[in-house]
Amino acid sequence: MCGVIGYAGHRPAVPLIMDGLRSLEYRGYDSAGIAFLQNRKLDVVRAEGKLANLSAMLVTRDVSHATIGIGHTRWATHGVPAVRNAHPHKSNDGTIAVIHNGIIENYQELKAMLLERGYVFYSETDTEVLTNLIAEGRKCNDSLPDALRWAVSQAAGAYALVVLSEEEPDALYGARLSSPLIMGVGTGENFVASDVPAFLPHTRNVVFLEDGEYFRITAHSWEVRRVCDNERVAKTVQTVQWDVQSAQKGGFKHFMLKEIFEQPKVLTDCLAGRLISPDLPVRLPELDNRPIPGRIRIVACGTSYNAGAWGAPLLEAWAGIPVSVEIASEFRYRDPLLQPDEAVMVISQSGETADTLASLRLARERGAMVIGICNVVGSSIAREADAVIFTQAGPEISVASTKAMCSQMALLVLLALYYGQKKGTLDVGVWREACDALRALPTLLEGVLPEMRNRAAELAKSYAQAKSFFFLGRGPCFPLALEGALKLKELSYIHAEGYASGEMKHGPIALIDPDFPTLAIALDDALFPKVKSNIEEVQARRGRVLAIVNPGRELRADDVWTVPAAWGPLSAFFVLPALQLFSYETADYLGKDVDQPRNLAKSVTVE
Ligand code: AGP
Ligand code: GLU
Repeated sequence: MCGVIGYAGHRPAVPLIMDGLRSLEYRGYDSAGIAFLQNRKLDVVRAEGKLANLSAMLVTRDVSHATIGIGHTRWATHGVPAVRNAHPHKSNDGTIAVIHNGIIENYQELKAMLLERGYVFYSETDTEVLTNLIAEGRKCNDSLPDALRWAVSQAAGAYALVVLSEEEPDALYGARLSSPLIMGVGTGENFVASDVPAFLPHTRNVVFLEDGEYFRITAHSWEVRRVCDNERVAKTVQTVQWDVQSAQKGGFKHFMLKEIFEQPKVLTDCLAGRLISPDLPVRLPELDNRPIPGRIRIVACGTSYNAGAWGAPLLEAWAGIPVSVEIASEFRYRDPLLQPDEAVMVISQSGETADTLASLRLARERGAMVIGICNVVGSSIAREADAVIFTQAGPEISVASTKAMCSQMALLVLLALYYGQKKGTLDVGVWREACDALRALPTLLEGVLPEMRNRAAELAKSYAQAKSFFFLGRGPCFPLALEGALKLKELSYIHAEGYASGEMKHGPIALIDPDFPTLAIALDDALFPKVKSNIEEVQARRGRVLAIVNPGRELRADDVWTVPAAWGPLSAFFVLPALQLFSYETADYLGKDVDQPRNLAKSVTVE
């Protein structure tokens, strides 16, 4: 999910590639590398950490004659951040170098096949498997492009990959599936990258590759063909008007908005390799050799806490495992009574949140098994948990967490299904409906986000002057109400409280007046009548109500926002982006610093 860049031209390739990687740094990465050809010899240089480390390794080399090369900034998904896992990866015979963004879901099976054929591996990555697969393909195909086509047709998952080889020292090849890859067409030089900023200073003429296509570029030519039948694809060269800043945001005004719109892809990536087919159980190999907990204590902070609170009832209902949810900064200073069969599940996007990490260490001191749900491979929590499951959400740049929560919730659904199927507590019908509904989510969400944003912008203008806000929900919508309030607070600086709507009558309703609006989540579920009554209680005290509802459910409110329903608890995956977009549009309307709200850090590594 990080950055690739390739160059074929007449200028020294290494400085251009390094500049390109620097323009991709904003995406966050843990290591980097570069490969180039000089005198037809392939050279690869890699370093852990920041690009400066890679630059330092290049200073001592004469690379001025290399006019073709590839570069990569890695966001680890398979294999910890380390030089051995950094890209480019070389084939065993040393003649092919590959860089890759994405996840090869079936890399273990492919690796086993290659091991049987005598290949050796020096990394834990899926990418090195792809590299040797291309080398293996070259043995049974007449050309490098045919070997590439053969290899990617074996691979399942997502990839944007670029190949440099000694066999064709003037050409770069590559292919894309579910991971962006764009060619930059220059004069006497051509580029390829995962993102326009990588070559924007050199050309604005771009060709976007589509899934199932592969390319060949040289200094003076480019072409695109279909992987499946090698048919040439007529492509249009487009001219982008973006500046570098907006290019880094993919044309979105803020990273937060870009990341909200990435949620369909995040769901696809999170489910990849785990939700395989309607007839196969959910796969979470990270837990296969672990005992099934008798009870689970979810511990997290902020948005991650809200995700845990949303998923807890699913684990109870589908897997029959009692679950409690705790705020990490409280848990770490209590003297928690952990049962012998109790697992502590820490949820953290960054994997570095001090309170959550301290809670993990306390739980381990007490002998509890710790399961980590994390987005950053190689982070402290990922390394110290007994078992870690990665959310595969890719780098989350905006301080406000959005796509990470979506992926955490998806993973909690998978966990409930996984434990439920293992324990036999899950009704087959529920299992099938849940799996079908999960698989359908990314496409459905993709289709509704643009209109959802328009509605959010409309409502934001109407409520942006509020000084305080209630967010109400019941059952699974209560944690969503907490998240909606958190987003509005942290982005627009408007005071907002998330509340269980049944709690209003126990005091908070005293606050209601026309200047204290309420956003109520009233979905098409068994609790709808109750929430409807709570809304009427608020209205009876002249409170303004914005109600989020599903189609077919009528209620009276100042504003009604209808969002799609999904099967059972999965309707939450439509409510979450609505809440995110409402807070985004409100903050943007008020001219706030959306991506860097005041006083906040992306990862709270201090107490
Ligand atoms: C969410 O928008 C906030 N930025 C914050 O609450 C965040 O969720 C919290 O600090 C936990 O971070 P983590 O998931 O990286 O542990
Ligand atoms: N899955 C590959 C790895 O873990 C690529 C990661 C990326 O997209 O940067 O190395």
